[in-house]
Amino acid sequence: MSLAVHQAKLGLQGEEIADQIDAMTDSLRRIAADLRPPGLDDLGLEAALEWLVESFERRHGISVGLKVDGDIDGFSELTTISLYRIVQEALTNVARHANASEVNVDLSTDDRSCRLSIADDGDGLPASSPRADAFGLMGMHERAAQLGGTLAIKSESGVGVQITLVAPLARIRNK
Ligand SMILES: Nc1ncnc2c1ncn2[C@@H]1O[C@H](COP(=O)(O)OP(=O)(O)O)[C@@H](O)[C@H]1O
Ligand SMILES: [Mg+2]
Repeated sequence: MSLAVHQAKLGLQGEEIADQIDAMTDSLRRIAADLRPPGLDDLGLEAALEWLVESFERRHGISVGLKVDGDIDGFSELTTISLYRIVQEALTNVARHANASEVNVDLSTDDRSCRLSIADDGDGLPASSPRADAFGLMGMHERAAQLGGTLAIKSESGVGVQITLVAPLARIRNK
């Protein structure tokens, strides 16, 4: 291959690479925006949850009790984002699937662990297995695992669904 052709080829590849980097930067920006819920950094976890719960109540007419108990300060950024996103996805599910009139969100700590529970008084999970493209509950399990914790989903027909995350403080607090 002549030098000129070689250089022309490299130039083209360079452009393609630049385009790809642009596209990657865009998608990274979108992912980062998704990872970092707006307001969470400024408000802190408790106020961000209050805001989330109030807008959910206004929008869906389902009343939500939010209780925060214990010392929830000093959680890592990954932890606050994960807790926020789990509550957000659980509430979205309640609005879409549950037929509930009430939800209780409880966040608490003891000397070892953090516990998050979201419980509704709706229909409970359907008997059939979820659609293959249902990623909400799966995502919650993944987020829990990332925190070194466990997520349990309890459901009783006509009583409702309760999602409970337990994660060890030693893992989720900023050292
Ligand atoms: N709180 C709930 N009450 C009743 N059913 C629920 C609830 N949360 C989830 N489900 C059921 O579990 C399925 C899977 O939920 P999810 O993984 O979040 O996917 P998606 O919300 O996209 O359907 C839902 O399609 C719904 O049938
Ligand atoms: Mg969902």
